[in-house]
Amino acid sequence: MKIGAVILRGGRSSRMGSDKAGLRLGGRTFLELIKGELSDFDELLISVAEGEGDAGTVSDIYKKCGPMGGIYSALRAAKSDALLVVPCDLPLFGRSLARELAANMDEDTDALICVTDDKIHPICGIYSKSCLETMKYCLESGQLRMRLLLERLRTRQLYVSDMAYMLKNINTPEDFKALYTGDMGCKLLPSKRNLVLLMTGRRPPYIIKRFAEKAPLERELSVLNRLSAAGLPVSAARRTDENTLELEYLPGITALEYFEKREAEGAFFGEKDKDVCNLLVNWLSDFYSAAGEGICLNDMNLRNFIYQPEKGRFVGVDFECCGEGIRSRDAGALLAYILSYHPGFTSYKLAMAEYLRSLLADMLGILEEEIKKECSAELESIRLRRGAGNRRGGCG
Ligand SMILES: Nc1ncnc2c1ncn2[C@@H]1O[C@H](COP(=O)(O)OP(=O)(O)O)[C@@H](O)[C@H]1O
Ligand SMILES: [Mg+2]
Repeated sequence: MKIGAVILRGGRSSRMGSDKAGLRLGGRTFLELIKGELSDFDELLISVAEGEGDAGTVSDIYKKCGPMGGIYSALRAAKSDALLVVPCDLPLFGRSLARELAANMDEDTDALICVTDDKIHPICGIYSKSCLETMKYCLESGQLRMRLLLERLRTRQLYVSDMAYMLKNINTPEDFKALYTGDMGCKLLPSKRNLVLLMTGRRPPYIIKRFAEKAPLERELSVLNRLSAAGLPVSAARRTDENTLELEYLPGITALEYFEKREAEGAFFGEKDKDVCNLLVNWLSDFYSAAGEGICLNDMNLRNFIYQPEKGRFVGVDFECCGEGIRSRDAGALLAYILSYHPGFTSYKLAMAEYLRSLLADMLGILEEEIKKECSAELESIRLRRGAGNRRGGCG
């Protein structure tokens, strides 16, 4: 049986007040995110209410009939025998769920839909062309409820537990906000490139990192394995599909949170802060010893260091940019990040950067002058990026 896919974007997004398919996570629109996860399927259709005849888009034959109208028209247009249906408001939808559904579909099933502990998801599932006649009857007689349709079909349910987060649908601005607060059982963590989720609904909580590309995932996984083999504390990692890692959650606060809080409290950069800087540089120094000759982080960001006060240490995360590099450049970039972080160049930050510069030089065996030079170069490039209104992406 040949299975294609269709993304439903015909809804009016009335509760959101704007086109949901255009909302963004990690720099990509919902539509782009879902499309990226459906790359296994040779046939990919986009169902729209009123099409402009773009390739791959299918407009409704029966207007204003909700999702059933969209699914019907897409099935009519499809070359495949069945279609995996994904609404455009499931930004976390992932390829592993798509595969699981496809693997469970068969000739004797008209509709295979997802169910989770708390509900059924009639518009996320696979519908076969064998549904067409019954759908047509429902559409023409105005019976538009998906549940009624499913009762008339040979429907099977696929129970989804680990991947239930992929079915979170975003209908309102509040739903969208809840993604960032963790009120939905998972919490989006700041990332410009990837989709990083803290799964809060589980004990113990864990991290899901879905990469925009495959190569950085390979890099991150191989560095994590190398560091762990060298005895460095890092999160244990497990790959779940070609673009997703499941990572052990490291409880603690990021270095950014720690230093921001200190500064907001009106603290001077003092002994307490120096101790924390020492722990940070200890981790960095261990990293360089374990990572191998010439290998650098190449992406310096205070969010990538998790402070665990009760263990008296930092643990680093985010190794996707690791590779050949220059240590003084890592060190300079770290200082530039600190100095320019809003509010930039405060006396706290200047003192911190000065302290760190000599510490990094000592601990990593590099020249302070080199760090200074790299820091100025990075500050200049930050200035240009901001001036041009560019957002940073990649490992440049
Ligand atoms: N294992 C983890 N434990 C705790 N927090 C983490 C973990 N992995 C990532 N984070 C947090 O999520 C943020 C984003 O993850 P990261 O791996 O840096 O993704 P990106 O490469 O997209 O920036 C990190 O900066 C960090 O604060
Ligand atoms: Mg990061």
